[in-house]
Amino acid sequence: MIAAQEDDIDRAMAIMESAFDSRWGEAWTRRQLSDAMMMPHTALQLVAAGGTPPADGAPAAGFALSKSIAGEVELLLIAVRPEYRHSGLGGTLLDDLIAQAREDGAESVFLEMRENNPALALYRQRGFAPVGRRKAYYRLPDGKFLDAVTFALTL
Ligand SMILES: CC(C)(COP(=O)(O)OP(=O)(O)OC[C@H]1O[C@@H](n2cnc3c(N)ncnc32)[C@H](O)[C@@H]1OP(=O)(O)O)[C@@H](O)C(=O)NCCC(=O)NCCS
Repeated sequence: MIAAQEDDIDRAMAIMESAFDSRWGEAWTRRQLSDAMMMPHTALQLVAAGGTPPADGAPAAGFALSKSIAGEVELLLIAVRPEYRHSGLGGTLLDDLIAQAREDGAESVFLEMRENNPALALYRQRGFAPVGRRKAYYRLPDGKFLDAVTFALTL
């Protein structure tokens, strides 16, 4: 793997460690992320606190990981460091992903989230609608289960 890609993985992992609540088991390991990055059609997008891509080597405030296959883009992960939330960075990442998908001629964008994730409001604002549900997909530390809901945006 080239050094620039390793650097992006380091910056995304620094966000991963602070952004995801360990109760839900949503965070990926470094191994999972670097394996995903080896796959063609996988894209990692970083954003700095100001909403633009971070300079080389500078820390990032958020990231989105996606894959594009046969006209479908899937948002695999999106995360913003807690201290930079509610200032539009998550929306910027999502808008950039949707704009890129349109530019590439994709037909739809998909994502999956646990049913109680407040990110729902963000997705709804962008026009995503629920299209599927995996029952009891997440097992919680207290033994309860949560569904995963699939959302789609038709471009
Ligand atoms: C989802 C996430 C990326 C949003 O980032 P952000 O930079 O705060 O996004 P924006 O500022 O563009 O939009 C925030 C809006 O999204 C919704 N929202 C998203 N996540 C939320 C959260 N954890 N708590 C409350 N509202 C949330 C609200 O409607 C919020 O509006 P508000 O700022 O007026 O309250 C961020 O909350 C995060 O990293 N969450 C943890 C990781 C995660 O669950 N990712 C999604 C599943 S992969």
